[in-house]
Amino acid sequence: MAEPTSADLRRDLVGHLREAGYLRDEGVAEAFATVPREIFLAHHVERHGLADAYRDDAIVTRRDPVTGAPTSSSSQPAIMAQMLEMLGVRRGDRVLEVGTGTGYNAALLAALVGDEGRVTSVELDADTAVAARRALVTAGAPVRVEVGDGAAGAPEAAPFDVAMATASTDRVPRPWFDQLRPGGRLVVPLRLSRVVPGLQAVVAFRKARNGFDQVAVIGGGFIPLREAPRVDAPPASPARSVALEVADARRDRLLVEVAGPALAGLDRRARQRLVVTSLGFGRSRAVPVGGAPGVALLAYVALALPEERLVEVSRAGSRSTTAREALGVVDAVDGSLALLARAPDGGLRLDAYGGPGAERAVLAAIERWRLAGRPRIADASITVRYGPVRPHGWYSARRGDHWIALDWQRAPDR
Ligand SMILES: C[S@@+](CC[C@H](N)C(=O)[O-])C[C@H]1O[C@@H](n2cnc3c(N)ncnc32)[C@H](O)[C@@H]1O
Repeated sequence: MAEPTSADLRRDLVGHLREAGYLRDEGVAEAFATVPREIFLAHHVERHGLADAYRDDAIVTRRDPVTGAPTSSSSQPAIMAQMLEMLGVRRGDRVLEVGTGTGYNAALLAALVGDEGRVTSVELDADTAVAARRALVTAGAPVRVEVGDGAAGAPEAAPFDVAMATASTDRVPRPWFDQLRPGGRLVVPLRLSRVVPGLQAVVAFRKARNGFDQVAVIGGGFIPLREAPRVDAPPASPARSVALEVADARRDRLLVEVAGPALAGLDRRARQRLVVTSLGFGRSRAVPVGGAPGVALLAYVALALPEERLVEVSRAGSRSTTAREALGVVDAVDGSLALLARAPDGGLRLDAYGGPGAERAVLAAIERWRLAGRPRIADASITVRYGPVRPHGWYSARRGDHWIALDWQRAPDR
């Protein structure tokens, strides 16, 4: 049988995205059917073949040479399709993209805005930007790629009708607000918890008078937006998080690492005790999630408890691979620790160490989640407000010059 062509594979991808419910918009479907993904994944295709470029998966294209952590990728088509639909981009729009990566999403945006529109994309890494520019020329996609910190937007090309970030951030930089026209849409993967970076909500916002209001939200998981190195960097502020590691003789295996804001409230001995405690045997129990995804409860607990009580605990992994991570809750009074982690069956496990304080706090938060109807990220309503006034909300966090607030929309009965 003949090998499928690029056009066949694109048609199949569109078919899969439609069937799975990730793609409804005709324009977005047409863009996926037209733009060849392999042009943006040349090295990957050389090694794995053409068909592999059309897997509905994120494909990592660059890694940090020291840690091995991914620093650039072509995002998963399913999430790209949803984000493009959430953006509501139209022909003729002026678009800002933050995080050019391979350039594939920028090419889809260029197809959506047509000749009358304009796409400007900002990439922090110069080599990545050069490769993306080349691929975009090959694909015939007219995109202006700028090298720089996307947190500053692209002032020369502003104003924009819509903007999107394809890297995750825990703040919404003011330039994104300033450079967007009134009522314009911004789609951004937000890291809601500073302690558990995996807890992300991909939010479509509409620009309001003094911030952003949510239009739509889905779950997601994106590479973090990196801070550009600054020449005029201010002196480092006292660390809010301290990492403690116990490495074995080969200095490769990580036995345990505890990091997070709760460490700042403990003295040296209490921190050491915490590390030793988390290596011992805890009182372990399964946490029923009633059919909801475990991550929904993890997100709720991480946001329900004060950040000052939280740590992230990574155990038994090599430094270069992802260790098993858990959300840790610390009770500074009785020195106890409770760890909440994803279990292989999709639910959660709770491990409690020492006194009852930390365990009780977690169990109380779990009970509140249950009583609230087991809300998940898709039930969140998130707003951003610039200025000093704290907005009302079940959860709110100060992020430099703005607040991010979250309320739960009435969770449907499940
Ligand atoms: C998930 S990838 C982007 C995927 C891309 N849109 C595509 O279609 O291939 C995230 C990208 O954001 C870039 N990035 C990280 N921090 C950045 C920053 N502060 N400004 C601009 N780009 C940044 C990374 O180098 C990486 O290439």
